[in-house]
Amino acid sequence: MASSCQSLIFLLFSIVLFSSQTHVLVTAAKDSNTNFVKTKCKITTYPSLCVKTLIPYASSVKTNSTKLCKEALNVATKGARDATAIVLNLKKQKGITRYEAAAIKDCIEDVKDAVYELKLAVEAIGHLGDKDKAFQLANAKTYASAAITDADSCTGGLTDQGKVNPKVMDAISRSMAVVIKLSSNALSLINHIYE
Ligand SMILES: *[C@@H]1O[C@H](CO)[C@@H](O)[C@H](O)[C@H]1NC(C)=O
Repeated sequence: MASSCQSLIFLLFSIVLFSSQTHVLVTAAKDSNTNFVKTKCKITTYPSLCVKTLIPYASSVKTNSTKLCKEALNVATKGARDATAIVLNLKKQKGITRYEAAAIKDCIEDVKDAVYELKLAVEAIGHLGDKDKAFQLANAKTYASAAITDADSCTGGLTDQGKVNPKVMDAISRSMAVVIKLSSNALSLINHIYE
């Protein structure tokens, strides 16, 4: 009787000890995953935006730089898609002049190009395990830079001659700024992928 009671106590004690240890291990792994994202984000141009947008992927990225770059590019792609939708809606607004409609059309082309380039950059990152690693890495950098340039030329195309309504101008330049920041962060992470 006494010994079975002892065994029971021992069993309960072991369970408590085991579950608390597991908890410690899981917490430590989570911390190291989020620390990895935070450390990597420090070298980016917009570190707090980087942390905010990439922390949700910390547990799947773990400490893999390649995966982090891919997620950063995916986040930028989503940003560029959202920006495309915003600009498309502005074009449909009442009271848009012909000049504005034409400028917005050019902008839509630019930001669509940015979406495409960011996707190509994701693909290139996916090929970093191939023999032509350096070539793929250079491509990823080129595509991410091209996306920044395209989002920038959308805004640039609208500033000409002040012919675009300031409200429309403001809405577009704010959404392009997001695309530019997210793409710049992805590019920084790609530039420092092996550090
Ligand atoms: C990182 O992830 C990629 C897939 O995105 C994989 O090919 C690579 O082997 C991983 N690297 C390490 C060190 O686990």
